[in-house]
Amino acid sequence: MILSAQLMVDSGDFVVEHLVDSDENRILLERFKVGKGADGLEEYLKSCALDDEISGESRTYLVKDSVSRALACYFSLRTCLVPLALDDETFVTMPAIELSNFAVNEQYRRAQSNTRKIGAYVFLEFILPIVKHVAGIVGAKWLSVYSLPEAGLMKYYESLGFRSLAPDDEAFVYSHVKPKYDDGCIFMYQCIEGASAPI
Ligand SMILES: CC(C)(COP(=O)(O)OP(=O)(O)OC[C@H]1O[C@@H](n2cnc3c(N)ncnc32)[C@H](O)[C@@H]1OP(=O)(O)O)[C@@H](O)C(=O)NCCC(=O)NCCS
Repeated sequence: MILSAQLMVDSGDFVVEHLVDSDENRILLERFKVGKGADGLEEYLKSCALDDEISGESRTYLVKDSVSRALACYFSLRTCLVPLALDDETFVTMPAIELSNFAVNEQYRRAQSNTRKIGAYVFLEFILPIVKHVAGIVGAKWLSVYSLPEAGLMKYYESLGFRSLAPDDEAFVYSHVKPKYDDGCIFMYQCIEGASAPI
């Protein structure tokens, strides 16, 4: 993978592009429909993603069907620090990359006869490679996500390699860095392969 502002990765089935790579992307996102009642993910893409791009807060990527160019999925990434208490008085911070948004376009999924898990495919083919690439250039040991507090979704994230922190560690993270919009969500993380093990 070449690191460039014009990131374009092609898996054969899908191509991933940075949100601001083409004007077509701004039109495509208007047709995005999220599933599972997770309306905030659709709202973010349509109303906030571009502003966050401009301010440098987060980077959003659109995954398109290589043939039809239809929007299949999107995800956003940003850096973060995860605070971990060593004892009552001291703590360390774990450099991490946060998967801050991740959703499949249900309109696209419904139009497909193939029922495979598009999100899981995107995670393995695009998100993990980008994260590993970045972690090879900028120190980052964990990939984190704030999962909606749904048992099925958390189980799904576990199947992708994420796990929860111990309750005390989780509470410490929430009391220091949990974003307002992730209220009620559950912090999960996985080690980025190639980075050393967590403390
Ligand atoms: C998360 C997502 C990208 C995964 O896509 P995928 O790999 O194609 O897999 P699926 O859509 O089949 O979802 C995987 C499982 O998670 C569950 N799940 C996904 N999103 C969920 C949600 N918001 N609430 C409850 N359960 C959810 C699904 O029901 C499914 O459970 P199952 O395996 O028991 O059928 C996709 O489900 C999605 O767009 N969800 C809505 C947006 C969302 O919740 N994003 C995560 C924000 S933290």
